[in-house]
Amino acid sequence: MITFSLALVVLVAGVLVGASSDSSASHSQLVPRRDVPEQAQIIDWKSFNVLPTVLPPTVANASTIFIPPGYDLDSLKERPFHIYDDAFYDVIGTNPTLTLIANTGTNPMFHEAAVWYPPTDEMFFVQNAGASAAGTGLNKSNVILKISLDEAAAVSNVRNATGSINVQLVDAPAILNSNGATNYRGQIVFAAEGQGDNLTSQLIIMNPEEPYNTTILLNNYFGRQFNSLNDVAVNPRNKELYFTDTLYGYLQDFRPSPGLRNQVYRYNDKTGTVAAVADGFSLPNGITFSPNGSYAYITDTGAFHGLWGWNFTNPASIYRFDVREDGTWDNRKLFAYVDAGVPDGVHCDSNGNVYAGCGDGVQVWNPSGKLIGKIFLGKTSANFNFAGDGRMVVLAEEDLYYATLGASGGGYIDGPN
Ligand SMILES: *[C@@H]1O[C@H](CO)[C@@H](O)[C@H](O)[C@H]1NC(C)=O
Ligand SMILES: *[C@@H]1O[C@H](CO)[C@@H](O)[C@H](O)[C@H]1NC(C)=O
Ligand SMILES: *[C@@H]1O[C@H](CO)[C@@H](O)[C@H](O)[C@H]1NC(C)=O
Ligand SMILES: *[C@@H]1O[C@H](CO)[C@@H](O)[C@H](O)[C@H]1NC(C)=O
Ligand SMILES: *[C@@H]1O[C@H](CO)[C@@H](O)[C@H](O)[C@H]1NC(C)=O
Ligand SMILES: *[C@@H]1O[C@H](CO)[C@@H](O)[C@H](O)[C@H]1NC(C)=O
Ligand SMILES: *[C@@H]1O[C@H](CO)[C@@H](O)[C@H](O)[C@H]1NC(C)=O
Repeated sequence: MITFSLALVVLVAGVLVGASSDSSASHSQLVPRRDVPEQAQIIDWKSFNVLPTVLPPTVANASTIFIPPGYDLDSLKERPFHIYDDAFYDVIGTNPTLTLIANTGTNPMFHEAAVWYPPTDEMFFVQNAGASAAGTGLNKSNVILKISLDEAAAVSNVRNATGSINVQLVDAPAILNSNGATNYRGQIVFAAEGQGDNLTSQLIIMNPEEPYNTTILLNNYFGRQFNSLNDVAVNPRNKELYFTDTLYGYLQDFRPSPGLRNQVYRYNDKTGTVAAVADGFSLPNGITFSPNGSYAYITDTGAFHGLWGWNFTNPASIYRFDVREDGTWDNRKLFAYVDAGVPDGVHCDSNGNVYAGCGDGVQVWNPSGKLIGKIFLGKTSANFNFAGDGRMVVLAEEDLYYATLGASGGGYIDGPN
């Protein structure tokens, strides 16, 4: 009901604008180009520019989810693809779907490091390493899991398919509290946070097929431990690995107090060279590159200090850098500041739109940093990933989702060597 009347008002306003002005900015904002798909709805920014009551930060803050007037959590979740700009129609296509494919009750099994492995058409991901309900951290390492995309696709026409998907445990040697991962030379490289004082943080490659053998790629910076490596990405131009080092192992009580600056490094596996490429963050977290590698994106989750709570004046932001020919980074730019939670995992689609896991689901920006839409879950998604064209797996701690949409993944996937 709400969606229908909202779409109608938008259409009328669009006609008026069309008659008086040719401004493409207001045009693109107001005229729905297509029918609104069944699982989508338009959210009109103007409907909340002026609210009857604006609550103080003790009530409305980064840990809360904004509900626009006329909606409630259920109506926002009922049609989870939220269109904030016409550009989002291309992202979602004509019939986007969102399916809950697994729920674990209280164990946050579906946390991070989502990586698609094309040869077996499976999605790998990992359990939360820091939440007490996971029982991980200092007590034991988190676990790696996988699902078959075929099985997920078979239930994409239902909204709740929990119980019908086989979530498989990957029987790999312990990868100590893995948190980020990416495709790497035909295998998968994990950023492992480490465990306690003596089991250091490291980059580890895993064979995505049995026997899931692993090889440590890098475990120190001139003999010093990394704080807790968080995420890793390959630049498609120079094929080097870039990774973030941050504080969550410490802020979640399973790593010692830090001995290095929170920053971003690069690693060249031909020469073994490790170099810092960017600093000045609060808590650098997710990392990705635009499809041709000319931009780097880093999420900064500094507003969230794990067991220490929130600091609302710290970043909940995405920064963009130009990647120069020599692989160094330039022109740091504030790309986005999110409205719910912090932006964690980050990925581009093939058109260079930027997606990040946030406090209310997955949010999507165009390459200019304009919010164009959301895949709204009503809860935090720390990460997600595309599985090629039109398919996505969204991790939401106790909940695992499969989405179909119009966009294709823009992440770099290389072959062996
Ligand atoms: C943020 O908002 C939530 C929900 O209203 C509230 O419980 C929490 O105390 C607030 N945080 C702070 C630091 O005020
Ligand atoms: C580790 O085990 C101890 C003792 O059983 C327990 O009190 C603690 O909560 C556990 N820590 C985590 C992170 O699960
Ligand atoms: C999904 O279905 C399962 C099994 O029928 C049920 O236990 C669960 O409550 C449902 N979840 C939602 C979010 O509807
Ligand atoms: C860690 O290593 C140090 C130095 O080798 C040692 O003193 C300490 O007992 C070790 N801690 C644990 C928990 O094994
Ligand atoms: C796993 O073993 C295979 C066969 O020996 C090897 O080709 C591959 O590189 C290994 N992968 C890792 C990550 O150790
Ligand atoms: C990479 O893509 C950006 C934005 O899409 C474009 O401006 C730039 O020219 C491209 N660079 C190269 C080297 O193709
Ligand atoms: C929040 O972080 C800023 C910058 O790090 C710091 O100056 C401030 O004291 C922090 N506020 C609280 C309440 O911790």
